[in-house]
Amino acid sequence: MRHLIAVLGGDGIGPEVTELAARTLVEAAALHGVKIELQEALIGGCAIDQTGSPLPEETLALCRSASAVLLGAVGGPQWPPEARVRPEQGLLALRRELGLFANLRPVTIHPMVVPSSPLRPELLRGVDLLVVRELTGGIYFGAKKREGDRAEDVCSYTAAEIERVVRAAAGYARARRRKLTSVDKANVLETSRLWREVATRVIETDFPDVRLEHQLVDSCAMQLVRAPRSFDVIVTENLFGDVLTDEAAVIGGSIGMLPSASLGDGPRGLYEPIHGSAPGLAGRGVANPYGAILSAAMLLRHSLGLPGAAWALEAAVSAALEEGVLTEDVAGPGRHPAATREAGSAVLRALRRALPDRSRHEMPMEER
Ligand code: NAD
Ligand code: IPM
Ligand code: MN
Repeated sequence: MRHLIAVLGGDGIGPEVTELAARTLVEAAALHGVKIELQEALIGGCAIDQTGSPLPEETLALCRSASAVLLGAVGGPQWPPEARVRPEQGLLALRRELGLFANLRPVTIHPMVVPSSPLRPELLRGVDLLVVRELTGGIYFGAKKREGDRAEDVCSYTAAEIERVVRAAAGYARARRRKLTSVDKANVLETSRLWREVATRVIETDFPDVRLEHQLVDSCAMQLVRAPRSFDVIVTENLFGDVLTDEAAVIGGSIGMLPSASLGDGPRGLYEPIHGSAPGLAGRGVANPYGAILSAAMLLRHSLGLPGAAWALEAAVSAALEEGVLTEDVAGPGRHPAATREAGSAVLRALRRALPDRSRHEMPMEER
């Protein structure tokens, strides 16, 4: 078996963490007899600088022909929000063009990282939740207007857009603890009232074994940090999901720890850590690569159908954390922080410990 994976490092720390995600991906797949061919392309600010477009045709064509896309992050102060062409447009267009309507953002916390969360340890123990964020609709993609002192962003959803993401989320809930929290603002927004209606119908009709709860987004924001263990799967619209998952990163110890998978109807997906380009860290070699590496694990599971390889990579990240290889965002006081590359090497070492002898001989020299 052979797979083509598009690698889009993007801007800021994006390329630094993606390089390690790609290397660990190749090794974890090799462990399961699958060969991966990596092909790099431009997206975001670096693509604007080199081609004028945040999503060049070539990049989109590569992504369409690949089994999956591994992405770092886009954006930075060089490309301000008021510019006409912006890096973020490239990412949004890619999600939309590939039809990736369901963004999976799992949140757990490894015991070694617990001290770096500002939340009390007893709140965090055993947290295991999954946010399914709608990714190709809502206010992100509605008409935008600016007329003098007036600005407008339209938020619209169709029942079909809501239904498909709720179905996806309910499917994941079914494979987990069978609890689904649908998050909206139905006391104010019409799109939310439709959201609630559709979610209720889908669950009542096709997922009677899944317990559905509706929660208002403001209340959910509070419950998330007050009682994170009370959640199993959360499904919500694009903007709410964006905001709630940065908040949820506090439950995970650092935003550098959280992975994501963006999926559509088929196996092709886009995999990226939930963090941004962290311009303040770029070029210093100190960014946390674990969220990017765990995104590569999600790629193995969801796009390549290699749950064993995914598990091996996740176990390797856990092993690196257990060894105390912690980047500065999670190291805490009194511990010497690991560099980005040291964290990547620790994961590769842990993966190799799990490799059968045969594969060890096939490894390139510099990797031994
Ligand atoms: P950010 O996620 O880049 O950074 C927020 C904070 O988290 C910063 O303090 C940063 O140093 C820290 N951080 C982020 N990733 C880290 C990592 N891997 N290791 C250690 N610390 C990390 O968010 P921001 O500063 O609001 O945004 C910067 C730029 O990134 C903006 O242009 C924004 O549009 C873009 N952005 C892109 C994506 C994406 O490409 N998916 C996601 C979010 C933000
Ligand atoms: C994310 C980011 C993006 C989003 C930006 C960069 C467009 O914040 O992936 O969470 O808002 O979806
Ligand atoms: Mn975000």
